[in-house]
Amino acid sequence: MFITFEGIDFCGKSTQVDKLKEFLLEQKKKVEVIREPGGTLISEKVRHILLDKNHYSMFEETEIFLFSASRAQLVREKIRPYLEKGYYVISDRFYDSTTAYQGYGRGISIEAVKQINNLAVGDTIPDITFFIDIPFEEAVKRGSKKSGAQLDRIEISGAEFYSKVREGYLKLASEEKRFRIINGTLNIQEIHNTVIEEIINLESKVSA
Ligand code: TMP
Repeated sequence: MFITFEGIDFCGKSTQVDKLKEFLLEQKKKVEVIREPGGTLISEKVRHILLDKNHYSMFEETEIFLFSASRAQLVREKIRPYLEKGYYVISDRFYDSTTAYQGYGRGISIEAVKQINNLAVGDTIPDITFFIDIPFEEAVKRGSKKSGAQLDRIEISGAEFYSKVREGYLKLASEEKRFRIINGTLNIQEIHNTVIEEIINLESKVSA
């Protein structure tokens, strides 16, 4: 099963990725966790270019191709081989981040974003996607607890940007059946329980 977590920065998805991994390992499942951008030698180098604050002059078009280049490598080098070996692959972000951030956030045409995503991933589409939803004001509040120096190039994009990204995710969630929206202001354990419930439900449907 291919499971992805999405959401605006500071929504708490990485904590949920860790908790789900622990849960699945306790169930004696084979699990591989990856994060985007990154996850392979080449993709981690691309991540570094993308998040470096000195690269403030990066154009939106450059940005989308770099995220997608990182992903194209990750899909072929890791995700597909692990899925073929029967692993649960959990990804902290995937191409929905590109649609939400570069499409709805930066304003690149959604049609173009879809084509680029399609080229990067082909038929490697998540079975289920958890959108951990927090109000953008909450993201800005949580982000302001980090010092300016700790924030990466995308995280300094501002409140208006986050508002557009969140709206984009909500639109995606309304269009794609694989999406589950989870209220990210609930406590960590409540969110985790919902995630597990949804996965068990989906597995029982697939095996029925
Ligand atoms: P992270 O903070 O979840 O590791 O993600 C890194 C940043 O990159 C985060 O601000 C979201 C952003 N991002 C995009 O803008 N587009 C993408 O396609 C991906 C995967 C991440």
